[in-house]
Amino acid sequence: MSQLTEREQWGTKIGLILAVAGNAVGLGNFLRFPVQAAQNGGGAFMIPYFIFFLILGIPLMWIEWGIGRHGGKYRHGSAPGMFDVIWKNKLAKYFGALGLFISMVILIYYTYIESWTLGFSIFSIFGLYSNETSATMHSFLKSYQGIGESTHFSSIWPAYILMLVTFAINFWILFKGISKGIEKLARIAMPLLFLFAIILAIRIITIGTPNPALPENSVANGFGFIWNPNFSMLGDPKIWLAAAGQIFFTLSVGMGTIHAYASYLKPHDDIALSGLTTASTNAFAEVILGASIAIPVAVAFFGLSATEKIAQGGAFNLGFVSMPIIFGSNAFPMGEVFGFMWFLLLFFAGITSSVAMGQPVVAFLEDEFGMDRKKAVATLAFVVLAAVQFVVFFLQYGFLDEMDYWAGTFGLVVFALIETILFMWVFGADKAWKEMNDGGDFQIPKVFYYIMKFVTPLILMVLLAWWFIESAIPTLLLRNADPNNIPYIWGARALMVTIAAGLIYLVKKAWENNRSEELS
Ligand code: PHE
Repeated sequence: MSQLTEREQWGTKIGLILAVAGNAVGLGNFLRFPVQAAQNGGGAFMIPYFIFFLILGIPLMWIEWGIGRHGGKYRHGSAPGMFDVIWKNKLAKYFGALGLFISMVILIYYTYIESWTLGFSIFSIFGLYSNETSATMHSFLKSYQGIGESTHFSSIWPAYILMLVTFAINFWILFKGISKGIEKLARIAMPLLFLFAIILAIRIITIGTPNPALPENSVANGFGFIWNPNFSMLGDPKIWLAAAGQIFFTLSVGMGTIHAYASYLKPHDDIALSGLTTASTNAFAEVILGASIAIPVAVAFFGLSATEKIAQGGAFNLGFVSMPIIFGSNAFPMGEVFGFMWFLLLFFAGITSSVAMGQPVVAFLEDEFGMDRKKAVATLAFVVLAAVQFVVFFLQYGFLDEMDYWAGTFGLVVFALIETILFMWVFGADKAWKEMNDGGDFQIPKVFYYIMKFVTPLILMVLLAWWFIESAIPTLLLRNADPNNIPYIWGARALMVTIAAGLIYLVKKAWENNRSEELS
């Protein structure tokens, strides 16, 4: 039945570009990137970052647009169907299930974090934090998250309600569909996001040296930290792994979400230029805007070594503790307004990404089960809302971190390797090359043919092996885990296994149904 209805399409080219850029530009650019850069030596991090951008990020972007548009021609909006088209093998669709798994797991915890940004933007306008110290702002965040003493919030309910509100907005947009939901959101949120980021960056650049008694603590030194590479640090494998991880996460590659968006292109719509534009827009939002906000201002207010320590202390400290302290201090005039802008910017960045994580599963249910959109979104909502309960209530026990490690770090590389081999080797490099260039507004430089065929898969294999030995094995065996957290970490794993098993079952079911439909 679904075969008879028109497949959805993007409304306009600019809308499509904004939507895919919105998919890529997210919390990763403004929260994760500064923390990763500060944890990994600042300037030293940027070298592997740019190398991986060229040999992993951009090639994978084109590969995913290619696989996605190709799958869309066969009415497939998610990886199981797409892999089935490019590899005539019964197993192909199950490999594709990984693309549903990763986006869905990230959706679960990412949207919760996104809801904090909505909360904090409201707290900013109402001046709920002002003149906080590091200790009191930490308790502010913790009590909001329902961890530790209830110093600023007496219960977790404000966070819980905002979580529900954030999910409701996300599902509403998914329900409105590709052009009327996702595209419309991007057309409003993306320009505002850039506007806020530019205003904040300019304000921060002009802050100079807030405390004249400490001339070392200046914005200029913050920029120096990011842009002066310390070459001696490049021998540390940790920096290379972190940079590769950031490239994946920030570009949304290796997850199955770019494919879904690309499946709504027309068969000969441009991929070459659009893929490049999205990757570059994301890079701009990250290394120009993302790099000009949190780190420079933290260095100006707290000094370089304290900033590095803050970043080492946890993924959210820079964004949710240091930034509020700065905005709430007397040395930052109109801090309420700038704080509001900072958190709203994060919210816009987050929501244009989280809807992208929901779309593959919605497309899967629509395309492979013939569900209407309402039912597809409701099904996704039901599962995601059930799963997020654990993330909310077990946050302090590392539940979120465990999901982020397997889906948001390790899984991406596995999926990227699979899709690269399937597209460039099984489907065939020449066919893939033709597909990616078909209808292109420019020809992808030939050197990328060789990069995609040889370099990208090779690097992915090396990374995977390296990651496995360096970090996956210790993580898997809980070598560095706090003993109190161990039962919860197993809980997170059980949840992920359940989600994976459910998805594999659904893939199997869908293909059985469609086969019997064909036969009848
Ligand atoms: N790229 C997004 C960011 O930088 C995150 C994301 C992950 C988006 C997975 C889509 C899918 O925050």
